[in-house]
Amino acid sequence: MVAGTVVSAAMLQAGEPCRISVSGEPRTAMCGMGICFECRAVVNGVAHRRTCQFVCADGLRVETMR
Ligand code: FES
Repeated sequence: MVAGTVVSAAMLQAGEPCRISVSGEPRTAMCGMGICFECRAVVNGVAHRRTCQFVCADGLRVETMR
């Protein structure tokens, strides 16, 4: 992974959805600039964080939001 990669991009590269919709569909980043909220996931135990707004860092814990 390249330094400065945002979490939503890293999740996409890993094949992991950011969240699962109420109808069970995998969702991932759409706008990439903090507007659409499609990239919400659990970051360091806090739900509904927009992963396109977080740069990957050692120790950052991210989970698909269900
Ligand atoms: S991708 Fe749209 S808010 Fe993150």
